[in-house]
Amino acid sequence: MPPSVRTDDAWLTDPVESGPAAGFGVYLHVPFCHHRCGYCDFATAAVGDQAPDDADALFERYTAALIADLRRQAAAGPRAHAPAGADIAPSWPRVTSVFLGGGTPTLLPPPRLARILRAVRDELDVLDDVEITVECNPETASEELFATLAAEGVTRLSMGVQSFAPHVLATLERGHTADTPLGAAELARAAGIPAISLDLIYGTPGESEADWRDTLERAIAAGVEHLSAYALTIHANTPFGRRVGQGSLPSPDDDVQADRFDLARELLRGAGFEHYEVSNFALGSAHRSRHNLLYWRHGDYLGVGVGAHAHLAGRRWWSTRSTERYLEAVEAAEVERPTTPADGPTPISGSEVLDDTERAEERLLLGLRVREGLHPADVPPLEPLALEEVMDLGLVETSCGRLRCTDRGWFLLDSAVDRLLV
Ligand SMILES: C[S@@+](CC[C@H](N)C(=O)[O-])C[C@H]1O[C@@H](n2cnc3c(N)ncnc32)[C@H](O)[C@@H]1O
Ligand code: SF4
Repeated sequence: MPPSVRTDDAWLTDPVESGPAAGFGVYLHVPFCHHRCGYCDFATAAVGDQAPDDADALFERYTAALIADLRRQAAAGPRAHAPAGADIAPSWPRVTSVFLGGGTPTLLPPPRLARILRAVRDELDVLDDVEITVECNPETASEELFATLAAEGVTRLSMGVQSFAPHVLATLERGHTADTPLGAAELARAAGIPAISLDLIYGTPGESEADWRDTLERAIAAGVEHLSAYALTIHANTPFGRRVGQGSLPSPDDDVQADRFDLARELLRGAGFEHYEVSNFALGSAHRSRHNLLYWRHGDYLGVGVGAHAHLAGRRWWSTRSTERYLEAVEAAEVERPTTPADGPTPISGSEVLDDTERAEERLLLGLRVREGLHPADVPPLEPLALEEVMDLGLVETSCGRLRCTDRGWFLLDSAVDRLLV
């Protein structure tokens, strides 16, 4: 049965699972890394060459700025951030998820991480069973770190492992051995962190099928609740991008990456993991990432810190990717009008209001990433003939009225969505 094709705007004004119904999150970004891995284009700054005192001063400055930025955005209230004319309540919804990501947040000393997490509870109304995720590089693990995170109510640790093959780790320029993540996961468990997720990368030049199989088997044996498996993406603005351009690093092969993805699905499903999003696997739906589901369901979230993005009711805004400019903007506002944070946020470097067509496109592009796709009431208006064509091509299917991607459609999502929209 095809989903009913909507002609009204209830998909936007009264969604069942998407938009505000998906919850409300806070993303906080810590841009520092010891070394910038050659493949990574996230907003990061390498601090490995800095003298310990200089790094410590920078971490303190950033912690203070991050908290001030959070305070300003929160105090301004949702109506200051929403598009003009949007029907928005005067206060923020309760926070359903917090994500402290990076970069390498766990380079910050534990007491500073605790200050940041406490500031979220001070500035916003946080749900009792909020999901709090912290990203962690394995080599930063310590008893003190995990004891602090557990005491601050962190419910998930997301650790970047990438591979268990030493030569792949070397190609990826990782700062840990193949054994470091397992020791780190054990420490986190012993400290009482309830759930652990590991990030893996496949399709790195030089990685064999046996390397990837072994990586998956070791990740499964680690007994974690969640795994993310990403195809290595080459970004032109990274050292890997430049090396591929010069021919000194082979480009990942699409067919090899498709085979690696199939192997991941086969082994992880066999081990009881639910493949719930293109790159994500959970040991049962309770262990899905609530925060990332919020993104995929086009929900609302604040974004705090260097390069952080936020979304509210179709308006998106983001901060500069430069740590220095970010610090200067926040610090200037604190000096100029320290007692009036309700004037609004300061380090914003861009914003846009999505029109209904763009919102429909995002709703579909993001919602179809999730295994069960979109609730029938949340599907934006579609061209009936286009829907039939995309179903005939085997890219999307319907199940109990929900619109969802087929396994093949997951790889051709952009083209499926282009064809679907009116
Ligand atoms: C922003 S990083 C933060 C995690 C942490 N700093 C670490 O590396 O351990 C989050 C994850 O994105 C993935 N990632 C980053 N760049 C990638 C790329 N070019 N291709 C595929 N995955 C990538 C990695 O799996 C990484 O663990
Ligand atoms: S440590 Fe993580 S965030 Fe930092 S450069 Fe490497 S992949 Fe990117």
